[in-house]
Amino acid sequence: MSAPLIVPATGIRPEISVAAIPDDERVWVPQDERVWFRPLLFNTVSGGWCNLLRVRRSGILSRHRHPMAVVGYVIKGRWRYLEHDWVAEEGSFVYEPPGEMHTLIVAEDCAEMITFFSIGGAMVYVDAAGRQTGYEDVFTKIEMCREHYAAAGLGGDYVERFVR
Ligand SMILES: [Fe+2]
Repeated sequence: MSAPLIVPATGIRPEISVAAIPDDERVWVPQDERVWFRPLLFNTVSGGWCNLLRVRRSGILSRHRHPMAVVGYVIKGRWRYLEHDWVAEEGSFVYEPPGEMHTLIVAEDCAEMITFFSIGGAMVYVDAAGRQTGYEDVFTKIEMCREHYAAAGLGGDYVERFVR
C-alpha cells in the first residue's frame, strides 16, 4: 500500500522572513518615552503578536498583566521587572505565565536593550492599585503602527506586511 498523498494547502497566507532589526529607523514605532517596538507578526486569527521591544537607558514599560503566555529572547542589553529579583541578560530566554503582572525597566547603566517577544492575547495595563488603565491587543497594535507609519512617511499600509 502506498503512503497517503499530502497535497499542498490552498488559500494559505504568505510566510514572513525579514531582518528582525530594521535598517530604516522609521520601522520602530514609539511606544513611550525611550520605548519603541518593531512589529514582526500581527496574528489576527489566534490573537497575538511578535515584536522586538527596544528600551533605552532608564526607560520603563508600565505595569501590565498578561492574560495569556508570553515568551521572549534578549537580543541585546539587559532589563528586569520591578516585581522580580532576576535580570534578563543578553541571550536570556524569558517565559511570562498567564496572570503575570510586572513593570519592565532598563537600568541607568544600560544604553539600550532589544528583546524579541511573542505575546498572546493582550496586555492589560494597570496602576499601582491594580486598576485597569488601558489595554493593547493585536488590533490596537495594528492601528498604532498604521498611524505611525503614515506620519513617518512610510504610508499607513506599511503595517499590512506584518498582518496575518
Ligand atoms: Fe510583560
